[in-house]
Amino acid sequence: MRIDLITALPDIVSGPLQQSILQRAAEKDLVDIRVHDLRAYATDKHRQIDDYPFGGGAGMVLKPEPLFACIESIQDDVDAAPDAVIYLTPDGQQLEQSLANRLSTKDHLILIAGHYKGIDQRVRDELVTMEVSIGDFVLSGGELPALVLVDAVVRLIPGVLGDASSALTDSFQDGLLDAPVYTRPAEFRGLSVPAVLRSGNHRRIDAWRDEQRIEKTKARRPDLLEVGSR
Ligand code: ADE
Repeated sequence: MRIDLITALPDIVSGPLQQSILQRAAEKDLVDIRVHDLRAYATDKHRQIDDYPFGGGAGMVLKPEPLFACIESIQDDVDAAPDAVIYLTPDGQQLEQSLANRLSTKDHLILIAGHYKGIDQRVRDELVTMEVSIGDFVLSGGELPALVLVDAVVRLIPGVLGDASSALTDSFQDGLLDAPVYTRPAEFRGLSVPAVLRSGNHRRIDAWRDEQRIEKTKARRPDLLEVGSR
């Protein structure tokens, strides 16, 4: 998969992309993530990428020319059209596991991280094909949401996680929250790991985990159990 991430603040995203699972996915050639500094696509001599909103109001808006130039240069570089041009914005559709699953099967995503005030509407009308929010709260820019999306998607690409089954057993993957997990030591400050997990009886362990998952989901997220909720 190729991911092009367009941002005016490339330093925010470059560190996390070079760590842990995202770094290993890139090293294994399972994903090719390219960060584009929007300022490099500015067309005027001051390299201006944002401006005041027409009609007044607080905050700066990302100008259309650099965004058009950047996306067109990415498209020139890749033969096929991208599968999606995604703008991260609090008024987009909410990111859920089902969307991450769908995006993980794609070949090429372009992500736009904007200022909190937004990007020129003409970019959204002409180039953006999907708008995604990571929740009902406003961050100061789209960089962290873009990283959230990249992480949620890339870890699902086959071969990225060591244990092939572990992404499938995540919370939400089948509509239930995850069961509690424990590691050694079996006794810690008088607190013991449930005996069933040490029993070696995998039928009993699976049954215990299923029961824990259902109980936790009922207590914390009953909405996930409602018929037709997914
Ligand atoms: N940009 C600012 N806040 C955001 C959010 N909650 N989701 C996606 N993009 C954003």
